[in-house]
Amino acid sequence: MDPNLALYLVGAGIGAASLPGLKARLELSRAKHASLTGHARISRLIARLVPHYEYDEERFFRSDDAPDDITTRRRAGFHRLAATYGERFAATAQLSGEIEDVVSDLQFTSAYRVPFQYSRFVRRHLPAGAFAAESSGVLLTDLDGNRMYDLGGSYGVNVFGYDFYKACIDRGSERVRTLGPVLGTYHPVVAYNVKRLLVISGLDEVSFHMSGTEAVMQAVRLARYHTGRSHLVRFCGAYHGWWGDVQPGAGNPVPARETYTLKDMSDASLHVLRTRRDIACVLVNPLQALHPNTNAPGDSALVDGARTAHFDRAAYAGWLQRLRSVCTERDIALVFDEVFTGFRLAPGGAQEYFGVRADLVTYGKTLGGGLPVGALCGRRNLMRRFDHHRPANVCFARGTFNSHPYVMAAMHEFLHQLDAAEIGALYRDLDAVWNERADRLNRRLRDEGLPVRMANLSTIWTTCYTVPSRYNWMLQYYLRAEGLALGWIGTGRLIFSLNYTDVDFNAVADRFVAAARAMRDDGWWWHGDAATNRSIRRRILGEMIASRL
Ligand SMILES: Cc1ncc(COP(=O)(O)O)c(C=O)c1O
Repeated sequence: MDPNLALYLVGAGIGAASLPGLKARLELSRAKHASLTGHARISRLIARLVPHYEYDEERFFRSDDAPDDITTRRRAGFHRLAATYGERFAATAQLSGEIEDVVSDLQFTSAYRVPFQYSRFVRRHLPAGAFAAESSGVLLTDLDGNRMYDLGGSYGVNVFGYDFYKACIDRGSERVRTLGPVLGTYHPVVAYNVKRLLVISGLDEVSFHMSGTEAVMQAVRLARYHTGRSHLVRFCGAYHGWWGDVQPGAGNPVPARETYTLKDMSDASLHVLRTRRDIACVLVNPLQALHPNTNAPGDSALVDGARTAHFDRAAYAGWLQRLRSVCTERDIALVFDEVFTGFRLAPGGAQEYFGVRADLVTYGKTLGGGLPVGALCGRRNLMRRFDHHRPANVCFARGTFNSHPYVMAAMHEFLHQLDAAEIGALYRDLDAVWNERADRLNRRLRDEGLPVRMANLSTIWTTCYTVPSRYNWMLQYYLRAEGLALGWIGTGRLIFSLNYTDVDFNAVADRFVAAARAMRDDGWWWHGDAATNRSIRRRILGEMIASRL
C-alpha cells in the first residue's frame, strides 16, 4: 500500500476515534461560565501571577484620581474614623494585635477584608477586633463594652438567636452529664436525632460528622462508590467547604482533576449531565440562588461597583426541578448541600422551600445547637458503606468525634425546640417579612440618594453598589463605627437571625443609613464622569502589569 495512503488511513482512524471525545470536550467547554470562576485551572494560574503592590498614603486616597478637595475630605473622614476606632475599640484591638502574628487564621482574615492594595494601610488605622465578650438578643458586646448588632450570624449558625443556642448547650450538657464525653458508643439522644432528621430530610439513613466540610466529603465519596463513576459536578461560585475536590480553583494548591465546575442555571450544563458517563453526583448549594455563578461576595474582591445579586424563587425552583429530572434519568446522585440553608429558609430547608427533593442532603452549622457538626442524610441505596456481595469492597468513613454526646445533646435540644410555638412563629411569613424589610431599607437609601442597595434571599443579604467606585469596601468600617458587626467577608454577606424584631431591624436600618450618609459625605463615592466598572478593572490591570515590570 502507498505509505501516504496508509498514513492517511491511520490519521483518519485516529480522527474518527477522537471525534466523540472532541464533541464531549466542546460541550463541556460550553457549559463553563465565561468568568474566571468558571475556569478553575486558569484562575489558579492567574492567582499565581497577580503581583503584590500597595498604595502609599497619598495614593490610598487618590487611587481613582480624585481631585484635591475630595481627597482632603476622604483623608479627614478616614482619620476621624481611625480616632473613633482608637478610642472605642482599644482593648479589643490590643488583644487582637497581641495574637495576630501567631494565629494564621487571623492573619488571613485580617489581610483579606479589603482589596490588597489598600489592606496594610487600613489594618494599621482601622484594626478589626477579633474578640467578643458577650452575646444577648441580637447584640454582641466586645471587650470594650460596645454593644453591636450582629450581622455576621456566626457564619450562618445563628438562625434563632444566641440565647437559643446557649439554652441548647446548657440543657443538652445537663442531659448527657452522667455519660460525659464517652466516644464509640451512643448516648440515647442520638436515637431521637436520627428519627427527627429522617423526617425532616425525607430520606432513609443518616451519618454524623464533625463539620459541614466532612459531611460533603462523605456525600461525594458515597456517590462515587455506588455509581462507580469518578467525577463530581459543582456549580460555578458555590462554596461547599474547603476540601480540595469541591474547591478546584484559586485557594487550592493542587488541581482537582475529578471535578467539573459548570454554569449554574444553564441548559448547556444539563446537556453535559445528560450525555457524560463519568458523573457520580451533582452538588448544589442553594445559597447560590442569590448570586448564581459568582463566588461568595467578599469585600476583598470589591474593587469596583460591579457586584450584583438578585433572587428569583420561581426561576431557581424551576432550575432545581430540571436538575432533579436529569439526575433521575441518568442515575446521578443529586446532593443538596444544606449546611447553610438547612433550617434557615424553612424548617425543612431548601428542599421544602423550593419543593424539590435530593438524594443526599448535608446539614451542619445551626443543626449542632451551637456546637460543631456535620450530618448527611440519604437514600438507603446511596448511604450503605459496604457491598453484601463483595465484603472487601467497603467505603470507609470514620471520625473520632462523630456523635459526640455533648454535640448530640445540643442537637437534640435544637430539634426538640423546632416544634415549639415560638420557633414556629419565627418562620411565619418569613420571606414576606424579610423582603418587606429589604424594600423598606432600599427605599430609604434611594430617597436619600445613597448608592447602596440590598438584595436578599430571605435573611441572607448582600450589599450592592450603584456607583463605579474603587472604595465601596470602606462601607464596612462606617458600619462598624455605627455599631453593626459584620463577618470578615464584609458587606457582601449580612446574615440576620430570625429573632430580629421590627424594632431591632429599624435600629439596624437607621445605623446603616447613617453609615452610608457619613461615607458619602466623606467623599468616597466620588467618581469621574467617564468612570465605569470596566475602566476601573482595566486600570487595575495596568497597575499590575506596571508593578511586574
Ligand atoms: C454550603 C456549605 N457547605 C459546606 C460548608 C462547610 O462547613 P464547615 O465550615 O462546617 O466545614 C459551608 C460553610 O460555610 C457551607 O456554607
